[in-house]
Amino acid sequence: MTKIFYFSGTGNTLWSAKKIAENLNDKYELINIGKHAQNGEIIIEADTVILIFPAYAYGAPLLFQRFVEQAIFKTPYLAVFVTYGTSPGGALAGISRILKRKKTNAAYFGRIPAMENYIAIFGPPKPETLAKRLAAQKKATGEAARAIIEKRENSVITFRPLSAFVFTMFSIAVKIFYKWYKVSGDCNGCGICEKICPAQAITMQNRRPLFSRKCEHCNGCLNWCPQKAIHFGRLNSRSPRYHHPEITATEIARHS
Ligand SMILES: Cc1cc2nc3c(=O)[nH]c(=O)nc-3n(C[C@H](O)[C@H](O)[C@H](O)COP(=O)(O)O)c2cc1C
Ligand code: SF4
Ligand code: SF4
Repeated sequence: MTKIFYFSGTGNTLWSAKKIAENLNDKYELINIGKHAQNGEIIIEADTVILIFPAYAYGAPLLFQRFVEQAIFKTPYLAVFVTYGTSPGGALAGISRILKRKKTNAAYFGRIPAMENYIAIFGPPKPETLAKRLAAQKKATGEAARAIIEKRENSVITFRPLSAFVFTMFSIAVKIFYKWYKVSGDCNGCGICEKICPAQAITMQNRRPLFSRKCEHCNGCLNWCPQKAIHFGRLNSRSPRYHHPEITATEIARHS
């Protein structure tokens, strides 16, 4: 049995997690870490365990880090993957440091290029860029599955001071970003944003989303809202949004 634990805001990471799972000749369970990370200690027992997350400011989402800190891994083979838009920096190093502190050995670390989803800063993808990034993601995801099947081993350098600094700045800023989300009059109260939020940071009140400091700034709600009603940075009602083209909001909303 292979257990794959993922965190995903706009579907890139979930897409790779699904494809890796489908390529393994093994029974598998795909598990969204969202709820587990909030539930304290979790014992994870499987023949193979895969952790996969998106790079945030050269680090891993805080919720994902908390999940890894709280988990007790009982597995002969643990592999860790990061999806990223331009450079994952020391994101894998950060997870490796947490595992080392827990005296847990990860056998393999892999990087999977994907579409940059931080469109509030970088803007929406051009069609040719999207096609290239999707092709690169497909290739790297196939390679990730092969590495797992062959039980490959490698390691990462854990000393990444610049990445650690950038991520520390981000982790301070992320605690106030949620205050800057604006909900326009186009909101129809559908509640999709609440359902897809991997951090359970949104509660609906009077058919309007209320954001809390549990927000990881995953950009999911901004991008999945069918009304484009959530605005942040460059994103307003007219700006195109992004999510992985083969992932649906229903899949993202799965909190197993
Ligand atoms: C808050 C935030 C920070 C990000 N930081 C980085 C980064 O440091 N390096 C990078 O290459 N991509 C970065 N990205 C892009 C994502 O890592 C990338 O698009 C990822 O595949 C998104 O995965 P998801 O669709 O599963 O949420 C960032 C995205 C967000 C929302
Ligand atoms: S997803 Fe958009 S339209 Fe639906 S409740 Fe949230 S903000 Fe409103
Ligand atoms: S509130 Fe929005 S940006 Fe924040 S974690 Fe939830 S879905 Fe992501």
